Amino acid sequence: MAQQALILYYSQFGNTAQLASRIHKMTGADILQVKVAPDTFPQDMEATDDLYKQQRQTNRLPRLVTKLPDLHYYDDILVGGPVWDGQISSPIMTLLNQLQGYQGKVAPFSSGWSDTGNYQQDFVAHAGKLDVLPGYHVLTHAKPSYSESSLMSWLRKL
Ligand SMILES: Cc1cc2nc3c(=O)[nH]c(=O)nc-3n(C[C@H](O)[C@H](O)[C@H](O)COP(=O)(O)O)c2cc1C
Repeated sequence: MAQQALILYYSQFGNTAQLASRIHKMTGADILQVKVAPDTFPQDMEATDDLYKQQRQTNRLPRLVTKLPDLHYYDDILVGGPVWDGQISSPIMTLLNQLQGYQGKVAPFSSGWSDTGNYQQDFVAHAGKLDVLPGYHVLTHAKPSYSESSLMSWLRKL
């Protein structure tokens, strides 16, 4: 992996946070959880999904309350988030907008329940001019599932 990497992740229920933490332990990269205001999403998957669909349709994306560090310092940014409807979550859409102009490489990682859908393609579609690498996408209740060796092998290619 490149010399200086930053892990940025959004996690609603903690699964992506766990994955981010494993990556942090394996790499020693800096890590920052990207947050939205506490009342942004309901604590319920279906209600979150209704809101998410609306956000995508209207392009009214949630605001992030996390201030990003100076990104010029980093060669790589690893961007983690949950799979929502086979796509990137709306906080990750906002984050990708904020990352525009970053010159290094961006590597997505995601956690989903049983279907990764079009996560990687959707990430690329919302990444503008960012240089996006192939990501690491794992599922908690189907394959590909997380393993230390698969994560290590992905990290080695970055
Ligand atoms: C709005 C919404 C849509 C989801 N859509 C999918 C999906 O399409 N495929 C899937 O495998 N899991 C889906 N899930 C489940 C989450 O991707 C999964 O539980 C993930 O690990 C949650 O990550 P988090 O704990 O970091 O929030 C969805 C969850 C939510 C809230």
